[in-house]
Amino acid sequence: MDLVVKNGTIVTASDTYQADIGVQDERIVQIGQGLDAGGAARVIDARGKYVIPGGIDPHSHLDTPSMGTYMSDDYLTGTIAAACGGTTSIINFCFQEKGKSIHDSLEHYHPRAKGRAVVDYGFHGMISDYNDAVAREITSLPEAGVTSIKLFMAYRGALMVDDRTLVQTLDQASRAGILVMVHAENGDAADLMQQRLMAEGKRDPKYHAVSRPPRVEAEATGRAAALAEVVGVPIYFVHVSCEEAVEEIRRARVRGVRAMGETCTHYLYFTEDDLDRPGFEGAKWVYTPPARKAHQPPALWHALANGDLILVASDHCSFNFKGQKELGLGDFTKIPNGAPGIEERLMGVYQGVVEGKIGLNRWVDLVSTTAAKTFGLYPRKGTIAVGSDADLVIWDPNAELKVTQSALHQNVDYTLYEGRTFRGVPQIVTLRGQVIVENRQHVGPPGTGRFLARTRWGA
Ligand code: URP
Ligand code: ZN
Ligand code: ZN
Repeated sequence: MDLVVKNGTIVTASDTYQADIGVQDERIVQIGQGLDAGGAARVIDARGKYVIPGGIDPHSHLDTPSMGTYMSDDYLTGTIAAACGGTTSIINFCFQEKGKSIHDSLEHYHPRAKGRAVVDYGFHGMISDYNDAVAREITSLPEAGVTSIKLFMAYRGALMVDDRTLVQTLDQASRAGILVMVHAENGDAADLMQQRLMAEGKRDPKYHAVSRPPRVEAEATGRAAALAEVVGVPIYFVHVSCEEAVEEIRRARVRGVRAMGETCTHYLYFTEDDLDRPGFEGAKWVYTPPARKAHQPPALWHALANGDLILVASDHCSFNFKGQKELGLGDFTKIPNGAPGIEERLMGVYQGVVEGKIGLNRWVDLVSTTAAKTFGLYPRKGTIAVGSDADLVIWDPNAELKVTQSALHQNVDYTLYEGRTFRGVPQIVTLRGQVIVENRQHVGPPGTGRFLARTRWGA
């Protein structure tokens, strides 16, 4: 065998048990007690550690233009950070440039990832310039291995689509086996609030949250869910940030709508107060939807525990504080929206296990398995089973990491979690049986990641 992982405690979304894992030709070929490791090219002793399926982050932004600047992480730096945090597959958004098709955007991103990404990667389509030609090409995306597409109800005048476009795309895409992902915020209301606040001289980062309160998100969530209901198709809500939006998802599900919602690690940790840090520091916390009031993170943990929210993504979207976030000095509407978090995600959610908010198996579900099932990767990814890719994380539940920007691998000059101590740390990470992280450092060449052609929704 190429690799045997011995003596570890395997943790999947459903089970926790002690067994060894045998890997050959990139896949798991044996699971059992007392596996013979003789002749194996590599043996990892995982005694006292958990062995979990590699994390799957279905929401990241790498190497993409946004708000007059460019994200600081590309497919090399962003995926090294992902790997060091225990993530072995990402699904990245492919920005559609004005006047270009979605297939053009895929062609643009393939060479940026190939030969550079160190974890496996898939692409989501993204509609930012809707027209008849784009409408026609949507149904051909699964042939390119792309089975999800994102639409924006926010960012008026830039990315926002109207209700007709939304309902038409929901109908057409879903029938082609493509899951429609929605950024649900009422773009008109947010735009009006931004203009009003700026006119009143309210220009600091903290007004980002004031301009798009929970009802702005909840209204759009309820509306989009209703439109999905009208045409009888599923809908997936990205970056759900507040209990008001969760409530809309829950109500839609009660009516029989297949409405699914993810939240992101930062919504479990930060509040509006972080946007009001001294000086301009709050700009680091400008992401959309914004950080909310202090009662919201516990409500989101609760929604993750009870199944109202189905997974945790990173929405990694990194801009340096110096020179990039600073573009919005004196005008919060010009602060590039987004924050880093691809490396902190598994550790951040694991603190919910440490603190008794979620169980161990639910953690694996939230950071890996459900993403695989939802985005056409299961059972190749997202579990530990014979036949699955040998994407494994050896997780030390007793190790601690004091998070600092310099202890992480993201190409950005800050971390939201600076100074926090996370208990539970990924020590070794394998991608299809090859060790790519050892002692929290990336090992191996660039380009070990492969494109993930995903199966259709519901396949
Ligand atoms: O602020 C955010 N979330 N930036 C990334 C783009 C998006 O809307 O997901
Ligand atoms: Zn979004
Ligand atoms: Zn995003």
